[in-house]
Amino acid sequence: MRTAPGVGWIGTGRMGYEMAARLAKGGADLLVWNRTRAKAEPLAKLGAKIAATLPELASRDVVFCMVATWKDVKHVVDELLSGKAQPRLVIECSSISLEGSAELRALLAKRGIDYLAAPVSGNAKVIKAGKLSFVCSGPKAAFDEALPLLKLIAPAASYVGEGELARIVKICHNVFLGVVIQSLAEITVLAQKAGVPRHAFLEFLNQSVMGSAFTRYKTPALVNLDFKVTFTPELLRKDMDLGLDAARRFEVPMPLAAATRDLIQSMIGRGMREEDFATLLVQQAEASGLQLQPENVEVKDGLF
Ligand SMILES: NC(=O)c1ccc[n+]([C@@H]2O[C@H](COP(=O)([O-])OP(=O)(O)OC[C@H]3O[C@@H](n4cnc5c(N)ncnc54)[C@H](OP(=O)(O)O)[C@@H]3O)[C@@H](O)[C@H]2O)c1
Repeated sequence: MRTAPGVGWIGTGRMGYEMAARLAKGGADLLVWNRTRAKAEPLAKLGAKIAATLPELASRDVVFCMVATWKDVKHVVDELLSGKAQPRLVIECSSISLEGSAELRALLAKRGIDYLAAPVSGNAKVIKAGKLSFVCSGPKAAFDEALPLLKLIAPAASYVGEGELARIVKICHNVFLGVVIQSLAEITVLAQKAGVPRHAFLEFLNQSVMGSAFTRYKTPALVNLDFKVTFTPELLRKDMDLGLDAARRFEVPMPLAAATRDLIQSMIGRGMREEDFATLLVQQAEASGLQLQPENVEVKDGLF
């Protein structure tokens, strides 16, 4: 690879935008495409070029992809490769299935294009705070080639092996995310019904051995009921479904994941789909006969 590879970026949704912004700020030679062009345009101020069409990105050395589902990934990659030009390396960061990822690898291998599966942990705010992490799989040489670019986006990039192994790691991670947020909703409502304000309960929990970066950065939402979307209920349901599909394939019982998946489904069925997935707290409170009010207490998210 040249010292400064030409980079293409597909998808500037909540995650893709902030990831591409870090690449641009890091000085990468970046050409960005998003289906809704207006969402990509502010990246021009950071030095990125905005492509009018997706196939323009095919002449770049490396192309990142961050869209939503496997169906969307397939759609954009087919369009990317619809002309004669092609990149040398595709780095796919969306949370997709093992099967979808393997299909993508086969499709790219036929054209002689290297492929790194590189899903991530962290939301848009975590990216801005410089705390995102990648989990990667594919040829080790592709990982080594990608690493300088990954490091412009995130401080941590773990290589877990060949093929689609990164996908199962990310799926396991997000099943854990679902189960943890539901459990956090249950115990926070229990503590409140017994008389403990949410901010006081979570302050203790966050400083205990059970506290984590995740419980800390979700605390402002749970205390002050700010449910501006970081991750939608639909995307979380997709990941629980990916986990349960994999559990069937590998014959692993996952009773907690199954129950959590249906609680997320209930939330979506009740129309709670436009706000952050932390609205599981609201559903839990309603099921407990509790009307939640913002506590209007300043609490830290532990990120900055
Ligand atoms: N949010 C998180 O906290 C988080 C954390 C880790 C991983 N993830 C994963 O990261 C991925 C992106 O999540 P997000 O929260 O950034 O989602 P998002 O805000 O909904 O963004 C989705 C992006 O995909 C594009 N897109 C979707 N379908 C498309 C299609 N058929 N053709 C072309 N473009 C398409 C959208 O384009 P438009 O702008 O035109 O709609 C947008 O750029 C998902 O796989 C998610 O599971 C999310």
